[in-house]
Amino acid sequence: MQEPDFRPLAHFTARDTWLNDPNGLLFHDGVWHLFFQNNPHGSVWGNMSWGHATSADLLHWQHQPLAIGHEGPEAIFSGSAVVHEGRIAAVYTSAYDDGIQAQSLAWSEDGTTFVKDAANPVLDRGSTGFRDPKVFRYGGSWRMVSVEADERTLLVHSSDDLRTWTQVGSFSDEPGVGIWECPDLFPLLLDGQTHWVLLLSVQDATGSRVEYRVGTFDGERFQGGPARSFDTGPDVYAVATWTDAPDDRRVLLGWMAQPTYAGSTPTGPWRGAMTLPRDLALARQGGEPTLVQTFSPEVTSVFTREVTDLPTACLVRCGFSGDASWEFGAGQDVLRIAVESGELVVDRRRSGIVDFHEEFARETRVALPEGVEGFDLFLDRCSLELLAGPSSVTQLVFPTEPYREVRTDGSATVRVLDR
Ligand code: FRU
Repeated sequence: MQEPDFRPLAHFTARDTWLNDPNGLLFHDGVWHLFFQNNPHGSVWGNMSWGHATSADLLHWQHQPLAIGHEGPEAIFSGSAVVHEGRIAAVYTSAYDDGIQAQSLAWSEDGTTFVKDAANPVLDRGSTGFRDPKVFRYGGSWRMVSVEADERTLLVHSSDDLRTWTQVGSFSDEPGVGIWECPDLFPLLLDGQTHWVLLLSVQDATGSRVEYRVGTFDGERFQGGPARSFDTGPDVYAVATWTDAPDDRRVLLGWMAQPTYAGSTPTGPWRGAMTLPRDLALARQGGEPTLVQTFSPEVTSVFTREVTDLPTACLVRCGFSGDASWEFGAGQDVLRIAVESGELVVDRRRSGIVDFHEEFARETRVALPEGVEGFDLFLDRCSLELLAGPSSVTQLVFPTEPYREVRTDGSATVRVLDR
């Protein structure tokens, strides 16, 4: 039997190799740069390097040559990119064979080829869990947030030239088990007031997820409220936002995966996909500033042609008043989404290929936010992303053939790419 081709249409995947975290998201000279954790030699995690792709519209991506390759004892872990004195600086974690993780720099004049800084690593604490630098402008200088992953601590460093760094603050939670990874910290406006949002990817015995906190940041200290769930589905991790996006937008991309089974998903030779780009905003929910995600307009503005049958990639607007269900199917496969007694249910137990890992065939239930009477669902061959007010649910599915029809007692308007 021929293997199904799970390659999505609107989601970024590596050409024929492994992909994990988005890295170095930077908008520069009209180009959206997407670097990503990549194994240039295989379909599983390893030989970590920065792959690269560029886009003019966040939907069509051009593969670019490998940007920063693993070399000798040094693997290239996650990080960010900024423009400093006319050049692109990639700030990444050097993960050395002896276990030490430290922060390093690579420079690019042309946005494609990178040269490592002779002073690397530029920030070394002799630690084995110090990684994932996110650099941003604050006042007249640079800040870097990074994690001591095993200590569940966020570190804040300051620099003028990206080479010399001084620690100016730190943030940690009540003690817990698990690790912190991939921090991002940025301001968002709500009712004319600036709030700082801290995103963290968290791994513990219950699995991996993204959490966020809304708080204040004075250039040194972050103070925030309790951790809240960024997405209640199992398959989004290591999210990051673009630096220097136009119009003060805060555009996010995540790795659409659950690390426990990311290496066993039934695709190949490519493995791993990004989420759709999502614009972030704050809205008040029960008095609290709450993160709200929408699919970026670059995507929704071209998925506009109404159809009745489901194609490989489509945006489905689902409406309901009271309980309702939507069954997406092809052959024996059924993906069931339902609203039941104030809960949103996503049941992928019969959605297609589910037996590649014991944790995959699960049903997800989350409380539906009050006042929500519809949701946007983006289906794209091997994934679904559901946005309902302040809730988002991201899940992988591997139907043996693309879902063809939807049966519902609610409403469903299906839109496809109009180009
Ligand atoms: C998150 C992560 C990062 C690290 C990278 C290595 O998925 O573990 O903490 O930098 O992946 O690939």
